[in-house]
Amino acid sequence: QENMLWGGRFTGGLDPLMVTYNESIHFDRTIYAQDIKGSIAYARANSKIGILTADEFAAIEKGFQQVLKEWESNTFEIKPGVDEDIHTANERRLGEIIGTGVAGKLHTGRSRNDQVATGMRLWLRDQLRLLDEHLTALLRTLSARAKAEISALMPGYTHLQRAQPIRWSHWLLSYGTAFANDLERLRQLIPRVNKSPLGAGALVGNPFGIDRAAIAKELGFDCLINNSMAAVADRDFVVETLQWASMLMTHISRWAEDLIIYSTAEFGFVRLADAYSTGSSLMPQKKNPDSLELLRGKSGRVFGTMCGLMMSVKGLPSTYNKDLQESWETMLDGVKTTSDSIQIATGVLSTLTIVPEKMRSALSPDMLATDLADYLVRKGVPFRETHHISGRVVALAESEGVPMDKLSLQQLQEVDARFGKDVMQCFSYEESINKRTVIGGTSEQSVLQQIQILENRNVKK
Ligand code: ARG
Repeated sequence: QENMLWGGRFTGGLDPLMVTYNESIHFDRTIYAQDIKGSIAYARANSKIGILTADEFAAIEKGFQQVLKEWESNTFEIKPGVDEDIHTANERRLGEIIGTGVAGKLHTGRSRNDQVATGMRLWLRDQLRLLDEHLTALLRTLSARAKAEISALMPGYTHLQRAQPIRWSHWLLSYGTAFANDLERLRQLIPRVNKSPLGAGALVGNPFGIDRAAIAKELGFDCLINNSMAAVADRDFVVETLQWASMLMTHISRWAEDLIIYSTAEFGFVRLADAYSTGSSLMPQKKNPDSLELLRGKSGRVFGTMCGLMMSVKGLPSTYNKDLQESWETMLDGVKTTSDSIQIATGVLSTLTIVPEKMRSALSPDMLATDLADYLVRKGVPFRETHHISGRVVALAESEGVPMDKLSLQQLQEVDARFGKDVMQCFSYEESINKRTVIGGTSEQSVLQQIQILENRNVKK
């Protein structure tokens, strides 16, 4: 234990299981580059206030360049039992390269508490920017399909019961709207992640007058965290990322569930590409929508990381506590799962084929019962009354055993004399759909407008 960076006061050794229980190097090595970048910026700032000479800073910078190369070429040797985390590992190796006389000055005024928060925020900020690109690509795929397949008509459902005819594109855009909100939330989140904790020290702030703003600028942070205790205590930036991801994954999950249903033989609206389906080890005919099922399943997993982390932090006293190390794995897993999921969803969507004939043949005239009621509304009959009249037409068709549009005009007029010859126009799916010209409706013109709005929303601000 004396060999550890913090070993001065210790005489006894760590329990062997405690060594592995405590160490975080096997996952926090992910940010080796960010940790080095942060250390170089910190050393530069220390050279400006005379803690390091110009030569010492140059040696540190050069030494870290070598450490970085070792990580990149996979030759960095982690010393088990000594390299507790990425911070200690990098500093240990720097000391071996440039000598501990100079390397030993690097950590002046700094704590792993501000160091770890800095590295995590740098890493997460870049990941969130990548997620922005992935989500934008999903939205582009979605709007391109909505445009290309605007003439495909299908049933719209409520309670999973046939409700009213819609365009396939309208269904697509309903998820596009949710995903665009997710993108908006992501872009609001990034600036809250991209704040600099460095210079907070362990909790009270740097005593040597270090220029925090200069460090933040070098690292590309938008601004500083304004209280040193908050700076080291805060993992809200991870929690919020996972909350954001949970919401997005919920949307992906519902979207996947719809497509799973639409891809069954009973529906047959869509066919998944082979690239995103798998077979059965027993039943030769099977083609299963595993990609969509995994998307649905993994949404639960992301939600789980979010809950888990919130439980870990909820009762902590002020500032840094080792419990905060638990934020790491939830962050890494949540980000990777979400990133993979968005890309899989984009792959599924860009490769599936739709079967417009099947969609269309799932439409049935009873789905136009509302239009029949609206027909009488246009003749001045109160809707509550027309609803009832149309319901009686539905019942009549059912008892006659014919589709509603196969009833004769005379039969309709027996239900209500106000039905005229032109009533037969009600029984057109196209007519029904294209009457929904309101903003956000399912008519062709409204759907084209929605596509335009969606495309404007994804433009980077
Ligand atoms: N591995 C630690 C973490 O991820 C680094 C910070 C350690 N700080 C400390 N005071 N023990 O949280």
